[in-house]
Amino acid sequence: MGPMIPTKPNRRDLMFGLGLAGAGALGLGAAIPFSRWFSDNARAATGPAIRQDISRLDPRGPVLRAFVSGLRAMMALPQTHPLSWAFHANVHLTKDDPAALYPYWPEADQLIGGLWNNCPHGSYYFLPWHRLYLYFLERRLRFLSGDPDFALPYWNYTDPGPNNTEQRKIPAVFRDPSIDGGFNPLFIPDTAYAAPLPSNGRDPRYNRGAILDLSDVSVARAFSFKNFSIDRGTESFGGHPPPQSFLFGALEETPHNNIHANIGGANGLLGNLFVAARDPLFFAHHANVDRLWESWLALGQGRANPVDDPQWITKTWSFVDERLNVVTISPAEALDVVGQLGYTYDALHNPPPKSPAALAMRMEADIDSVDQLAPVFSSPALTFDHNGAVANFAQTGDRGRGSRWFLHIEGITTPTDPGASFGLWLGQPQTPLSSADPGFIGAVALLGMGGHQHHGGMGQERRFDVTEQMALLAPDQSPSLTIAQIRPTANDGTLHLPLAHAPIHFETVKLYRA
Ligand code: C2O
Repeated sequence: MGPMIPTKPNRRDLMFGLGLAGAGALGLGAAIPFSRWFSDNARAATGPAIRQDISRLDPRGPVLRAFVSGLRAMMALPQTHPLSWAFHANVHLTKDDPAALYPYWPEADQLIGGLWNNCPHGSYYFLPWHRLYLYFLERRLRFLSGDPDFALPYWNYTDPGPNNTEQRKIPAVFRDPSIDGGFNPLFIPDTAYAAPLPSNGRDPRYNRGAILDLSDVSVARAFSFKNFSIDRGTESFGGHPPPQSFLFGALEETPHNNIHANIGGANGLLGNLFVAARDPLFFAHHANVDRLWESWLALGQGRANPVDDPQWITKTWSFVDERLNVVTISPAEALDVVGQLGYTYDALHNPPPKSPAALAMRMEADIDSVDQLAPVFSSPALTFDHNGAVANFAQTGDRGRGSRWFLHIEGITTPTDPGASFGLWLGQPQTPLSSADPGFIGAVALLGMGGHQHHGGMGQERRFDVTEQMALLAPDQSPSLTIAQIRPTANDGTLHLPLAHAPIHFETVKLYRA
């Protein structure tokens, strides 16, 4: 016997207040603050639910059984139902029109400003919001599967252990169309057609077990930061306060964006934030991102959440719980995952041994002051396709006497998301290009590009500390920047061909010394 699923909205429900915005036709209760709600809903005192590495799970074991049965239940509900898979994906981001879905509800479009379209990308709300998004899914899956101990499994693509190559493939259980002889809701087929048709599927290469490049899953740069955030412009682990030009926190950039872009490929679900949360792999990916946040904090040396920033800590969002309560919750209520949210991880990410030294030295790049400097080297505007490019810098200023070098790329535009990431190298990297080359800077993934997109077509920017890479050049050598698409490795060990994409434009590429 499954649980009693709250009924789908009916006319009588029109009488209920949604609370959130004054009216509701979804059968939702009034909005209640998390603190009051939590006292009634706390996990029984059985200890935290444990989120496990999906590669270690038995496909017939309890975690995957509950995951699959909970997802099947969500997918079987009509998309207008607040517990349905489509509704849940719309909470992240959507172009669905609530007025069309709920013609009987005059104020349906209040969903847009309230319960839907809440994902805060490119800001320091990215980590707490996605944590809560997963938390409410986890509760819903517990309820719908009837397994009170269910915890979301995570995709451990950052695993530094001997299983590393295997872990950089989409987990096998997400690539199999059937599970236990039935429909597998974790599976999404290969992308069947190209943009501008609706996004669908996954990149066929990864969906058949291609291996993500190490540079796409590296946390080296993200973990090097001690600062979660910084008021303006500086690079950081967790992002910056809005409003701001579109600049990602380092963890959001890599591995988060890289996984989205690559697995989405050309026009797949994960590469398009409006539909990304329709691929169940999103949640195994984000469980790992959330685990990496916990792992970063565990590194210490001053790494901490911005609890003294009132704007961050008191920001609130509303989510629908499994019993159709609308719950209002803030980062303040979501920082202690065991004590406040009742879950934990089987193991945190252990960075490889070479990290601690790097961790100690790379900190607090104050780009604000760099903004006031004249660039030392500038490249002409650059446009390149999937074949990459080399930008040659001309010296345009005094080499200065600061000890740190910064690469700043502004006005990054392209008509559609490329569906692949690209690597940046300074100097003369060895061929074949590799992220192990000392001149390697990072792997950039563009998401939310294109003028029609939520995150603006005004152009994104990227900033990197390149002090170590500049130190490789001879004192009077002019630097150059090599840009090349990062490609997955096929099962036979060969590199896949680059994925064709529209031209990418860099308006300015500059090097500063500070
Ligand atoms: Cu809001 Cu990985 O996405």
